[in-house]
Amino acid sequence: MARRRASETPVEQLGAGEAAREYRRLGEEIAEHDRRYYQDDAPTVTDAEYDALRLRYEALENQFPELATGESLTHTVGAAPSEKFAKRRHAVPMLSLGKAYTDEEVGEFVARVRRFLRIPDEAPLAFTAEPKVDGLSLSLRYEGGELVAATTRGDGSEGEDVTPNARTVKDIPHRLSGDAPAIFEVRGEIYLTHAEFALINKRQVAAGKAPIANPRNGAAGSLRQLDAKVTASRPLHFFAYGWGEASSMPSGTQSGMVAALAAFGFKTNPLTRLCRSADEMLEQYRLIETERATLGYDIDGVVYKVDDIALQDRLGAVSREPRWALAHKFSAEKAVTIVDAIEIQVGRTGALTPVAKLRPVTVGGVVVSNATLHNEEEILRKDVRVGDTVTIQRAGDVIPQVLGVDLDKRPADSKAYEFPTTCPACGSSAVRETNPRTGKLDAVRRCTGGLVCPAQAVERLKHFVSRNAYDIEGLGEQRIDEFYRDGMITRPGDIFTLAERDRRSLTKLENREGWGRQSAQKLFDAIEARRTIGLDRFIFALGIRHIGETNARLLARHFGSFEALRDNGRRAAAGDAEALGELTAIGGVGEVVAEALVDFFREAHNEEMLDDLLAQVTPQPLEVVSSTSPVVGKTVVFTGSLERITREEAKAMAERLGAKVAGSVSAKTDIVVAGPGAGSKLKKAAELGLQVMDEEGWFQLVGGQG
Ligand code: IVH
Repeated sequence: MARRRASETPVEQLGAGEAAREYRRLGEEIAEHDRRYYQDDAPTVTDAEYDALRLRYEALENQFPELATGESLTHTVGAAPSEKFAKRRHAVPMLSLGKAYTDEEVGEFVARVRRFLRIPDEAPLAFTAEPKVDGLSLSLRYEGGELVAATTRGDGSEGEDVTPNARTVKDIPHRLSGDAPAIFEVRGEIYLTHAEFALINKRQVAAGKAPIANPRNGAAGSLRQLDAKVTASRPLHFFAYGWGEASSMPSGTQSGMVAALAAFGFKTNPLTRLCRSADEMLEQYRLIETERATLGYDIDGVVYKVDDIALQDRLGAVSREPRWALAHKFSAEKAVTIVDAIEIQVGRTGALTPVAKLRPVTVGGVVVSNATLHNEEEILRKDVRVGDTVTIQRAGDVIPQVLGVDLDKRPADSKAYEFPTTCPACGSSAVRETNPRTGKLDAVRRCTGGLVCPAQAVERLKHFVSRNAYDIEGLGEQRIDEFYRDGMITRPGDIFTLAERDRRSLTKLENREGWGRQSAQKLFDAIEARRTIGLDRFIFALGIRHIGETNARLLARHFGSFEALRDNGRRAAAGDAEALGELTAIGGVGEVVAEALVDFFREAHNEEMLDDLLAQVTPQPLEVVSSTSPVVGKTVVFTGSLERITREEAKAMAERLGAKVAGSVSAKTDIVVAGPGAGSKLKKAAELGLQVMDEEGWFQLVGGQG
């Protein structure tokens, strides 16, 4: 939903009809924001924006009381965010942790603690090391051994009272076992396992809701449910690792306290270890890092704590971070996990891409379960095998990659991966070609099935409708998958007969799940609007290997019509050297591109596909470049502002006249067209002694030709 501010018109000036419409619309919008905030824990507006909507809603109700029916949102209990859960103060504040990312920082932490306490290097000093669970912290208050309150961390001083919800978590005992202190607050982490997270998301998606990004958000959303029954339906877990207020202390050490927590009935983390030096701490860090993939829940680092509680008290805290503890975080981009399988994906041009199916791990807030292995060469070079423990990297939005294998962890019975020599989608043989220019074997193995291969066919269709090709609204990748699977669209021409076939068919698109009369008609209209399309886009849409947008434009400009290009391609495919020569002579079109084009026309099924498609659509020839243009072959840079035409139009005009338009000035530039406000580019042009002109000069140069 778009962010919308409350309408500007004062409510007093609204007519009854207008008010009713706005009231209904606002009600829906607020309800949607409530759902996102309360149920998904994923609000899309700020509190201020939300409040503005609510104020407007209430103002409408005050002005037009007849609008406020029983369903009014202002009557819903606890709808306002601040009133959702009762607030509760922590008897002892819930602190956060200082962070470290490197081994050196851990050494410095140990040295700092020793210095502060004046403990010489030779004297013993112990630390605990334990996983930092990536969930949310919770404080549980027991009085006389009975659970009386559960409070979220909140801002550290005050949190939300989620007692009824906490009672539904099976790792949280309602009554402590053994001899617990009369007042005892237990602190720890609430989390979801990967398996349960996947299950919740499956249900979310089945219910038409957006999936939750990661287990942490899932745990937060599950715990912060107003209805404890909902929390109960989502199996949360709890590890205890600390304490708050305590009327007496069962032990004088951190490790002793953790043992006591276990004795009282809590789950404590089995990877907790007592360490006697920075080296031992780092050893445990590495152990936990490699165990990470098999834990089945998210951790994002290791927490070190001074073991002796008397020393913890002496160290105290600065700005809410205890001096006695440190969070040693894992890299936000890298993680270690296990390869469960290697699958082969087949792309549009038949390239076989190996994909590692991973034990899911959260990296930088996103659950990663696939990583690309690029191609056969790469998989051989890295020797990645099923069952291997690997380091993966996820940087920004790019597909996660496998950085390397931990050979020490390789199972004894592991076998080198054998790359298939047949296509997994169609069974055609898959080959590695030799590059005609370099004579080298291509790194990529390709399926030779062409459009016989369903994987290639689907990927080509997706390319055909993609944004820089046919760009048909409402016909995205998912739709193509669906329509291909159901046999409704198997090749490009089918797109344009969809409406006609639908008219004659009994199984109508509008009756399919997720469709209606309007959406079906909208799709048919969008398709209809694309019956004519620029020749360059048309050529690009065909998805011929090596023919991207630039080459498509070059070919369109050279041949002027698809018939001319096709005629040339056919002749070249039949072995006509002259026709092939014409292709390679086009500036910017090399041998590889020419070969690809010839290969395309050599395939009978491509010819059939074209006949079928051209019966439906008409590519529009580009205006042919006049050979008398004074700027043909020249490189032009536009800088500063233009007055008669926009920058885009100027660029299109120059290109139409056969010039190349560049973004920066270099020795290769021929002409610089500088408008008012031109700066560094103009200066550089002067330094290089280039031909510089203003907008008027440009029009004079090209005459009426634009
Ligand atoms: S100790 C004063 N131990 O990390 C000590 N915290 O960044 C405070 N966390 O809010 C916490 N695992 O939610 C501690 N083993 C662990 C932890 C842990 C996860 C979280 C906790 C805390 C946050 C601090």
